[in-house]
Amino acid sequence: MTGDPVTDAGRFAVLISGRGSNMLSLVNAARAGRIPALPAVVIANVAGAQGLHAARDLGVPTAVVEHQASANRREHDGKVLEVLREHDADLVCLAGYMRLLSPVFIAAYPGRILNIHPSLLPAFPGPDAQRQALEHGVKISGCTVHFVDEQLDHGPVVAQAAVPVKDDDDEDLLSARILEAEHRLYAEVLRRYYLGHLVVSGRRVRIQEPADE
Ligand code: GAR
Repeated sequence: MTGDPVTDAGRFAVLISGRGSNMLSLVNAARAGRIPALPAVVIANVAGAQGLHAARDLGVPTAVVEHQASANRREHDGKVLEVLREHDADLVCLAGYMRLLSPVFIAAYPGRILNIHPSLLPAFPGPDAQRQALEHGVKISGCTVHFVDEQLDHGPVVAQAAVPVKDDDDEDLLSARILEAEHRLYAEVLRRYYLGHLVVSGRRVRIQEPADE
């Protein structure tokens, strides 16, 4: 499969650091017409990020902006912003992007940066959310899509999906169950975003049903 047609549809960017399964699920959902927007570019901060190959195979433009090459977060984010502008991205989707964004980045895309996190926030922010859930002994965990602000895994929650934590779960089993839910949830949130169904009021985000309009 090669690239997407040039149209005036929405254009989302996906930022990754590794495997990129959420990125792939977003690209595939867009290509299948379930998200009314085009994947503009996939950007990784790690040259060897596995997801880059998959994105290239699907004909999505990719870029690597290695964070080690910059003196500080602000400089690195400036370079990422340049790539986003080159590709005309109107929404930034963090998908396993293991970097905190600087205020400059957030100000450049106000209300237009989303993240997915593998827990029911505000429980278990930060790395190893699935391990934290197991260690805490919760019976239900899941995933959260939220708008990004300057604090880690903190901005307004858009949507959440719950999954059971089973007695014989280890980190891999729980992560796999959550990941399936992540793939469904993130694509659905992007669909609603581009349909103009998200209504943000402070920390509260309502997903407006078409009948509410
Ligand atoms: C996903 O589980 C995502 O929720 C998590 O990293 C994984 C990336 O997988 N993100 C975070 O923990 C962010 N705080 P993927 O590269 O296959 O999409």
